[in-house]
Amino acid sequence: MIQMPVQNKNNLEHILAEYGRERDNLIPLLQEVQEHLQYLSPEAIRLVADHLDLSENDVYGVATFYTQFRFIPPGLHHVRVCQGTACHVRGSDMILDAISRTTGIEPGETSEDGKFSLERVACFGSCALAPVVVLDDKVYGRMTAAKTKKIIEDKK
Ligand code: FES
Repeated sequence: MIQMPVQNKNNLEHILAEYGRERDNLIPLLQEVQEHLQYLSPEAIRLVADHLDLSENDVYGVATFYTQFRFIPPGLHHVRVCQGTACHVRGSDMILDAISRTTGIEPGETSEDGKFSLERVACFGSCALAPVVVLDDKVYGRMTAAKTKKIIEDKK
């Protein structure tokens, strides 16, 4: 488990203090915590659950429903591959495999050196550009395994 530095914990408590304890605050609170930490750590989930008097499972249940939330610290280069229907039928699985082979990580992981993280996403809403890969918030449309491998290699 990743231990959160004390400084981050204190900063989170400052964020938590800005929100009332109503359940309606869950999504905005998670958004702000993620903006601060770049992901939702187990400790952050626990603190949010305690604050809103929910179970950690409740918080995970909601957070995992939304693709915007991450549960691993992002690498220096964060790669997201769309696995929605339009992208899937145009070969997104092969793209995902190519990235895994190039970086040595599976979806949901961050490389040992912290350089890359890989994530599957349901749909970016850019289906006309399928298959879609997003690298560091830059959208690449009509990708192939070879083109994806090239943009990853360029970041090594
Ligand atoms: S299915 Fe990939 S962008 Fe919509």
